[in-house]
Amino acid sequence: MDIITLGGRDELCLKETASAIADINDSVLQLSQAMLETMHEGKGVGLAGPQVGFVKRIFVTHAQGDQDRVFINPDIIQTSLETVTYEEGCLSIPGVYAEVVRPAGIVIQGWNEKGRPFKLTAEGILARIIQHEYDHLRGVLFLDRINEKRRERILKSYGRKIKSL
Ligand code: NI
Repeated sequence: MDIITLGGRDELCLKETASAIADINDSVLQLSQAMLETMHEGKGVGLAGPQVGFVKRIFVTHAQGDQDRVFINPDIIQTSLETVTYEEGCLSIPGVYAEVVRPAGIVIQGWNEKGRPFKLTAEGILARIIQHEYDHLRGVLFLDRINEKRRERILKSYGRKIKSL
């Protein structure tokens, strides 16, 4: 059985809680652009700071048919009661996918790629990606969102095992 190492040296970051970015300056905005590039290179739809060893409250998304988005110091301020099931994967856990239940819609606020405050109402796949990335800021992985028995079964079906879970 392969053991997923969660990206070697960044492994521990994935379980840490990210801290707020005190000063949204040019270097933070440049980092957000670099994260967008990394996300696209990996053919991902989202990427959070802790995944690239930067344990701060920042993530980027690119839902299909949507623009690139940057979320700095984001807060989900509302979630719908309605939930939906979607299959999720993660750039930090390559090759593993699992269905996860989450709220169908959310309202989030934060600062964008220009360092300006914004509020966004999202549903569908964008709401899904945002919630997955938001979890990364709290050290939560999508596999933490499913019960242990199912997680073991899923990992076994992929011939994988995660050391740090
Ligand atoms: Ni992820």
